[in-house]
This record gives sequence, C-alpha cells and structure tokens, in this order.
Amino acid sequence: MSPRQLFPAAAERPDLAALYAYPDGQWLRANMVSSADGAATLGGASAGLSSDTDRQVFALLRALCDVIVVGAATVRAERYKPARAGAAWRDFRRGRTPTPPIAVITARLDLDPDSPLVTAAPPDARTIVVTTARAPADRRAGLARHADVIVAGDETVDLKAAVAALAGRGYRRLLTEGGPHLLAQLAGAGLMDELCLTVGPLMAGPGASRIVAGGAGTGPAAPVPLTLAHVLEDNGFLLCRYVRQDHLSGELPRPLRPRRLRPLCPGIRAAGSGPSSCPAPLPSQRRVPVQASLATGNA
Ligand SMILES: NC(=O)c1ccc[n+]([C@@H]2O[C@H](COP(=O)([O-])OP(=O)(O)OC[C@H]3O[C@@H](n4cnc5c(N)ncnc54)[C@H](OP(=O)(O)O)[C@@H]3O)[C@@H](O)[C@H]2O)c1
Repeated sequence: MSPRQLFPAAAERPDLAALYAYPDGQWLRANMVSSADGAATLGGASAGLSSDTDRQVFALLRALCDVIVVGAATVRAERYKPARAGAAWRDFRRGRTPTPPIAVITARLDLDPDSPLVTAAPPDARTIVVTTARAPADRRAGLARHADVIVAGDETVDLKAAVAALAGRGYRRLLTEGGPHLLAQLAGAGLMDELCLTVGPLMAGPGASRIVAGGAGTGPAAPVPLTLAHVLEDNGFLLCRYVRQDHLSGELPRPLRPRRLRPLCPGIRAAGSGPSSCPAPLPSQRRVPVQASLATGNA
C-alpha cells in the first residue's frame, strides 16, 4: 500500500523517506495517532486507531531515528519490545546500529527487569532507562543488569537533561512515540521540534485522552505555531507532518516545502499573529538549519 500526497503538491507515489528525512543537527520528532474526534486511545491502546499505512510510516520513522523515547505508561500499556529491523531498514541505517534503542522515561521504575524489552535488546542497542536520583535503588539495580540507566533529575526526570544526555551518547535524531503525558512535557519544555500525526476516520466518542495530557502547567505556556510540511492520505487516514515554525532557521527543504504558503497563514494568525500577513517567526530557543539529507551516522 502506498499513500498519496495531498499537500504541498499532489503526488501519487511520494518518496516517504525523503518526506520524513531528519534535518541536520539535533531534532526531536513526535509520532502520534488520533481519531477524527481527537481520541488518543481506543480501549486503552492506540492500535485500534491505526492503519496499515500508519504502521508503515511508524516503522519508517523508527528506521530513520537514532533513539525512540517513550513514557513508561506507554511501555506498560503497549507491551513494548525492542525495535525490530524491517526488510528495508538497512539503507536507512548504514553506519548506525541495525535498530535504534528504546529509552524509557520513568520515575518509579515499574518495569519488569526480565521482560523482553530489557533482556532481548541487542547489545548494540540496549534499552535505556532514564530515571531520577530518587528512583528505588533495588529496581534500578535489577534493570541495570541488562539496560543502561541514565539519571536525569531528582524527583522527576528533567527532560532537557535527558535529551542532552541522549545527544551526548550520539543519539541526535530523537523519535518520541508518546504517550500523551510525556509529549505534553516535551512540548512544554520546548523540546519537540516536529509532530507527525495520523488522523483516522473514526469517532471514538468521549472518555479517551488527547495526544497531550497532564495537569495545568504541563504543556506549552502558550499555543505553539506549527508549519504544515505535508499531508498524505490513504483509505481516509490523513498523515500530517507539522514542524515547529520557530525551530526552523530557514525555508523548509524542497521535499517538505509547501508550494503555497498562503493557506498556512490564517491558521497561524489564529494563534495570535497580525491579521494581514504571514507572521514573523517567534523568538527561537534554538534554530536548526533544515536540510533534507538522509545522512546516516550518529555524530
Ligand atoms: N495515540 C497515540 O499515538 C499514543 C501514543 C502513545 C501512547 N498512547 C496511549 O497512551 C497511554 C499511555 O500514555 P500516558 O500519557 O498515560 O503515559 P506516558 O506519557 O506514556 O507515560 C507516563 C509515565 O512516564 C513516566 N514519566 C513521564 N514523564 C516523566 C518525568 N518527567 N519524570 C519521570 N517520569 C516520567 C512516568 O512513569 P512511572 O510511572 O514509571 O514513573 C509516567 O507515569 C496508553 O493508553 C497508550 O496506549 C497513545
């Protein structure tokens, strides 16, 4: 199956690897799925919201990243295992390990040290547990038998420190797969550069979380303008790639660049910019030059 591209230009067989290429430098991409009415789960998991094409892109994004960052509740709910290399992964991972490691963010360390996620990870992509100084020492020792442990923060994981520690290990192309509580914090800390969101043609009804969740003050203090980089469609599922406008130092690279910027302006204006022209970029916390190269290697 192959999705068609709707935006920025119509294309029947888009080059997915080029569309999802990481920019140079450190970059954190989020990949989430929701129903048309905004639910992030169906029956407590995300599988019922997905599709074959969504799973295809999910796998591609794993192939392109250096590390997968995920909240412990998602690990528990979705029974995470180490990433498995797909048939087409070799080209994307030349110069890197065959699979990216999974980094679990957790304060309580309520993870089974004998689970496949911990014990079955390959030696070159051991599971990474990112936790706090106050995490239970016995659980930490149990997990450290097979996993790498990073301590970042005292009571809760300091996500900026965690991302810096991962980057320090050469993991600069980060992919978070949620869940909603972790994503809200990453966005709130200004760490999320990009959101890949699949919207499924389904009314899930009330009750489920959105793709961001948490108490007051968890997420961004103000709405964050995003630039729509592309939209793919397959069987009613829309696969959207949004990039944080203020994290781009220049124009989007050619495969990602919308041909017509005008339609983006009204949405961005609604987030608080002037009425008559495209808004100027917001003050940036950091600006990353964007290139569409599919460069490999962790450096
Ligand atoms: N629709 C989607 O795309 C999507 C994606 C992912 C998950 N989901 C669904 O979302 C649900 C789980 O998501 P969730 O939002 O409840 O949880 P989550 O974000 O996956 O994980 C929350 C947990 O992560 C740890 N954590 C997060 N931030 C932390 C910090 N700053 N410091 C220390 N620990 C931190 C804590 O683990 P400890 O409790 O171990 O301390 C916390 O309980 C599941 O139902 C899953 O199926 C949906």
